[in-house]
Parts: sequence; C-alpha cells; structure tokens
Amino acid sequence: MFNFEFYNPTKIVFGRDTVTRLSTLVPTNARVLILFGGASAQKNGTLDEVKAALGTREVHEFSGIEPNPSYETLMRAVEHVRREKIDFLLAVGGGSVIDGTKFIAAAANFDGEPWDIAVKGGANITSALPFGAVLTLPATGSEMNNGGVVTRKSIQAKLAFHSPLVYPQFSILDPSKTFTLPPRQIANGVVDAFVHTMEQYLTYPVNGQVQDRFAEGLLLSLIETGPLVLAETNDYDARANLMWVATLALNGLIGAGVPQDWATHMIGHELTAQYDIDHARTLAIVLPSLLNVQRGNKHAKLLQYAARVWNITEGSEEARIDQAIQNTRDFFESMGIKTRLGDYELGQAAIDIVVTQLSAHGMTKLGEHKDITLEVSRKILEGAL
Ligand code: NZQ
Ligand code: ZN
Repeated sequence: MFNFEFYNPTKIVFGRDTVTRLSTLVPTNARVLILFGGASAQKNGTLDEVKAALGTREVHEFSGIEPNPSYETLMRAVEHVRREKIDFLLAVGGGSVIDGTKFIAAAANFDGEPWDIAVKGGANITSALPFGAVLTLPATGSEMNNGGVVTRKSIQAKLAFHSPLVYPQFSILDPSKTFTLPPRQIANGVVDAFVHTMEQYLTYPVNGQVQDRFAEGLLLSLIETGPLVLAETNDYDARANLMWVATLALNGLIGAGVPQDWATHMIGHELTAQYDIDHARTLAIVLPSLLNVQRGNKHAKLLQYAARVWNITEGSEEARIDQAIQNTRDFFESMGIKTRLGDYELGQAAIDIVVTQLSAHGMTKLGEHKDITLEVSRKILEGAL
C-alpha cells in the first residue's frame, strides 16, 4: 500500500426530514446566499424548506447554475457575493450546483483572474468562503470532497480543481429529495458513481485489501440498486443506498493508499465540453474501451474484478477479462445509457477534435502509469466508435 494522508472534515447529516437541521448548521448571524440550478429545487419544495429552516437569517438567492456549471454564470454569483458582503454559501442541488458553489467560494476572495483557479487546478486557492450543501442528486460525491469542475463556454474548456479549502462544512443528504429525479439523472448518478469507484480500483494491485473490498462492495451495491432505483421511484431504501454509495465512491476513502487512473474522466470532460454530452454518458462511452486498450497494465485487477464483482471464474484469462468488460458495458446499457460514440452521432472527426483538446489542456500522460498518451487516447476513442 502507498503512504497516504486522509483528511475529510465534511459533516454528513443523512436521512428523512433533515433539511430542518440547517437551523443549527448555518451560523445564526450569517449573510447567506442560497445557490441553486433551474426549476427543480423550487418545484419540489426543497427551496421553501431550506428558507423556512434558515428562519430570520439574512438570505439571498442565486438561481440558474446550469449542468456543467459555467464560469460565465458563476462569476455573476461572485459579483453578488462581493456586492452584498455574503459570508456563507448554501448549495441546493446536484454536483453542478455544489461544484459551482466551491468555485464561487474560492473566487470571491481571489486576487487576480479567477479562471486561473481552474487553469492551475486549484493549487492557487488561498482562502474560500465557508459553505454547506443540500444534495438533491446522488452522483458526483462533490458533497463530501474537495474537488469541482468548471466549464468556460467561450473556449470550450472543462477543467477540474481541488483544494482542502473547498470541502463543504456540512452536507445534508435526504434520500427522499431524489424522488423527483427523472430516470436520465438517476441513470447518470449510478454510472458516475460506478466509474468513480473504477477509477480508484481498476489499476494494479498494491495489496490495499480494505480499499479493494470497499470498492467491490460499492460496485456490487450499484449493480443491485441501479435497476431498483430506475424501476421504483418511491423506494426510500433504494434511494438511501444509492445516495450513500455515491458519496462513499468519491470522498477519498477508497482512493487512499492506492493508485488511481482518472483517464476516463479527463477524456470524458473533453466530450462534454465539445458536444454537451452528460458527464456520466461520456464515462460510459470511454470506460469499456479504456479497459480493453489498457488490459495489459490492468490484467491482474481485471481478473479480480471479473471474479469478485461479476463472479466470472471460468475460461481463459483473456476470455474472463472480455466478459467482465462486456458485463460493464451491458450494465451501463441496462441503465439506459448508450456506450458508443456513434450512439451520440459522433465519428472520426470528433475523435480528432477531442485529441486536439486533450493536447491543449496538457492531458498527454494520463492513467495510473501516465502512459495514456494522445495516441493511446485516440485508440481508446476509436475503440468506442
Ligand atoms: O437545474 P435543476 O432544475 O436543479 O435540474 C437539475 C439538472 O438539470 C436536475 N436535478 C437535480 N436534482 C434534482 C433534479 N431534477 C429533479 N429532482 C431533483 N431532486 O438534474 C440535472 C443535472 O444536475 P447536475 O448537478 O448537473 O448533475 P450531477 O450531480 O450529475 O453533476 C454533474 C457535474 O458534476 C461534475 C461533472 O463534471 C458535472 O459538471 N463532477 C464533479 C465531481 C466532483 N466535484 O467531485 C466529480 C465528477 O466526476 C464530476 O466530474
Ligand atoms: Zn464523474
């Protein structure tokens, strides 16, 4: 196992009717800015519950943080924060709203052009406003991690940033808040959490026994729960399981002390930036092909994955690996997510553009061995045609 430091200060408040806990979690003298997306938080009543719980605090609102939050929108919120001397942010929504809130928290006091935060991957963040979150979409893990992803539409760049200063102080996870999610977003959440787990698990063995067993537990839970949440919109337990699995998939725990890949995400971000494909869908396109192209490096872990997650124990090693990759693809497809570039009407021309963008963003040595060069990324994308 590798050396590691593990730090996660986010308080999780989990369960039914927990939005009321905002009354004690947010400082009583705070000047609060509630941040949310389009209409969902208003329509399903979450926003009203949040405002009621905040009571007599001074509360401002900022709406319109879009999926794959844009720098352009977030900078309008930064202006609001500066103008109104806001000192506490409250994200109400999914990964996009929480990521956007992290960026706003860091940008509000940033000395210089805040886009630099994304360009430098967050290394230049020196302070951030405190914030909390009310999660309405289980998927990204943003509610309990220190990362965010922002898009600058004008240059079609989607970049990730990290900083210990952008952990949420708390996140409220009420599974019943997910009842109003459309099937498309449920499926996205299952697949995003699945791929987060794979990025930290399917590399090479370092005898991280508990990390491996935790990761396999998360994958098995997703395989079991995914179809239930798609089929049954009011199954509280299924929603609760999905919500907690998605949080644990990317809160740092399963990735501590083990190698990590993340090439699927980096290639996927370019597909979203260029073609506006949902984040999870880009991952479903890239991952099966990446596993196939990298099967040499990932041989031992692919066999372990085949045996422990899919119960594939017979046949030649290569046949078992083929079957495990096929099962992964079939699982994504069973969630209603297409796994081929062609399904999104993209072909060779798109591959050229994505590879050019990877180059422009310095994504030239990806993966746990840093051996996914532009040529390998091209091969992965060609395998996804
Ligand atoms: O805008 P509204 O009207 O709220 O609708 C949203 C949005 O259209 C809707 N929604 C959310 N909660 C709902 C709901 N609709 C009905 N009922 C509810 N309870 O869902 C749509 C998608 O929301 P979004 O926040 O974009 O989805 P998700 O949580 O999948 O977040 C995706 C973003 O997170 C980033 C992605 O790149 C992408 O930008 N990621 C962040 C990560 C992190 N911070 O660690 C890691 C991930 O790998 C990912 O990259
Ligand atoms: Zn993701």
